[in-house]
Amino acid sequence: MRYRDFLDLGYRPRESDVVCRFHLEPGDLPLEEAAGAVAAESSIGTWTELRTLKPYMVELRARVFEMEGQAISVAYPLELFEPGNLSNLLSSVAGNIFGMSAISRLKLLDIMLPEALLRSYPGPRYGIEGVRNLLGIRGRPLVGTIIKPKLGLNVQDHARVAYEAWRGGCDIVKDDENLADQGFNPFEDRVIETLEMRDRAEEETGERKAYLVNITAETGEMLRRAEYVEDHGGRYVMIDILTTGFAALQTLRKADLKLALHGHRAGHAAFTRPRRHGIAMRVIAKLARFAGIDQLHVGTAVGKMAEPRERVLENVEALKTPMGRLKPALPVASGGLHPGLVPELLKIFGPDVIIQAGGGVHGHPGGTEAGARAMRQAVEAALEGIPLKEYAKGRPELAAALERWSRP
Ligand code: 3PG
Ligand code: 3PG
Ligand code: MG
Repeated sequence: MRYRDFLDLGYRPRESDVVCRFHLEPGDLPLEEAAGAVAAESSIGTWTELRTLKPYMVELRARVFEMEGQAISVAYPLELFEPGNLSNLLSSVAGNIFGMSAISRLKLLDIMLPEALLRSYPGPRYGIEGVRNLLGIRGRPLVGTIIKPKLGLNVQDHARVAYEAWRGGCDIVKDDENLADQGFNPFEDRVIETLEMRDRAEEETGERKAYLVNITAETGEMLRRAEYVEDHGGRYVMIDILTTGFAALQTLRKADLKLALHGHRAGHAAFTRPRRHGIAMRVIAKLARFAGIDQLHVGTAVGKMAEPRERVLENVEALKTPMGRLKPALPVASGGLHPGLVPELLKIFGPDVIIQAGGGVHGHPGGTEAGARAMRQAVEAALEGIPLKEYAKGRPELAAALERWSRP
């Protein structure tokens, strides 16, 4: 079979097919052949015809069934994939093809799994409803912070900053993506001290609070850290899903633990940011949901990160759209946020979102506790539809935040 034999433009995908959409720019072959190469390399073909190809295999070929300019859609028979194996799925549909000379640019824009394959993935243990139940919060966004400075605080100061954030009104406090088990802030001590502060903040505020401990590490060690968190009364862990890898996330989800899983996407932009090459964030969000993430960073559309609103909304949809029996996961907006942006965030995301601010809490002129209070006040104002400036009258924390971060 040659590359052109993997084109079947009249083909209607079967319900059991995996379907992927790509943006494709050809390299050293014409567009149609380059499209065929994408389907061939991901199924039964290669650069030349094979003596070992048997007639009984022909139905296993992937087919390019739609081409509109540089937009192509490919259908893959279910039999090509091992159930429940995300690494295998990616090695197939997002593997060699990115480096072939037949193409110059290729971006995987979307992936659709058939029910038969979806069934082999667990999806989120908690999802939106479960996380809301864990924290006892209904009808409003969850408010979170990332401890800043992201690296360098010792254990006591880290726990103290967390405590102040919870007291001020944060529901969630999380470690930053690159805090692990460094000498200046050892993991086990941090877990113990910070969870102690969580308990104290819960008692004092009467609200449930969560500490999202970053357990990112080699998989075996990561599992050990997750168990440590659970053994010490933690309910949540955070994992950098791309630097640890999807297999590590799958292992963590399969472990016999009750922890909710917060997904950080550090490094995603190496795949997602080029407009015409790589893997769209929407695809990464779906894969993370298949594997079992309960909540995931999806961009903000208004903060310091570059993604425009349409992309962020696609990412949110990937987490929430009905997908077999997989629960919807909770979107996390993070990166450059502060109270002044909350009304816009609520318009973009609706109430099912975690709004996280690092600098926008710990950079408040009154300190962390005041910063957290200002965030909660901004959420209240936005839910009641009251302009922030008006709501800030008689609320000095919100007033100071608006003053500090007002736009020119
Ligand atoms: C993102 O890409 O979602 C963030 O800006 C990273 O955010 P974080 O470190 O909140 O936790
Ligand atoms: C990040 O790494 O992007 C964050 O942890 C979010 O921090 P920020 O709210 O200070 O941008
Ligand atoms: Mg961060």
